[in-house]
Amino acid sequence: MDNNEKIRKRYDRASSFYDFFEQPMEIMTLKKWRTEVMRELHGDVLEVGVGTGKNIQYYPDNINVTAIDFSEKMLEKAREKAEKFNKKVKLIHMDAQNMEFPDNKFDCVFTTCVFCSVPNPVKGLKEIKRVCKDDGKIIMIEHERSENKVVGLLMDIFNPLTLNLYGANINRRTVDNIKNAGFTKIEVTNLKGDILKKIVIHNFKNRC
Ligand SMILES: C[S@@+](CC[C@H](N)C(=O)[O-])C[C@H]1O[C@@H](n2cnc3c(N)ncnc32)[C@H](O)[C@@H]1O
Repeated sequence: MDNNEKIRKRYDRASSFYDFFEQPMEIMTLKKWRTEVMRELHGDVLEVGVGTGKNIQYYPDNINVTAIDFSEKMLEKAREKAEKFNKKVKLIHMDAQNMEFPDNKFDCVFTTCVFCSVPNPVKGLKEIKRVCKDDGKIIMIEHERSENKVVGLLMDIFNPLTLNLYGANINRRTVDNIKNAGFTKIEVTNLKGDILKKIVIHNFKNRC
């Protein structure tokens, strides 16, 4: 089984307990930041790695959202949320590393806690760059490895646990991956210590 398939299957398996397990994180921090991201979106919007659809209830009605995930089982939960909250969203089974969208399709792309698990993060980020319009905006709420020696080491130690349970790497360096994908205008704000970050990227394709 290749790595993509392995991670996808882990999320299929996690779909039944994901919302329950994530509830403490949700209450402590994430809910606030999910709603904050929504305020910055406009036009045609892509959510990458929609998961069980935790952002769906906060989608504003004046945007046109397409959301993708490569786990069918996570998408099933997202479909239930779209129905429950009466939100119009195009939910599509698709791999973020090989998107079927044309270049320059979306005004905004956003992710929340996704690039810890995309098997080849730089490839996925390059795809986001491609499908987002020139001058478009990319907003990410992502966690990454702490630069604190002790905390960083603990994250390295516990990484195999979260990777096996979920498919999530808690010790990824996502901001470095974003730079490696060719983005140049990146604003990073620490939300919880130096682990949870809001990352805003201005997608300048043809200029530096
Ligand atoms: C930790 S969950 C986060 C879900 C959601 N964004 C949230 O905030 O709760 C990561 C999600 O990214 C999805 N994912 C990971 N790699 C992907 C890929 N290559 N293409 C599409 N979805 C992917 C997983 O299936 C999973 O649903």
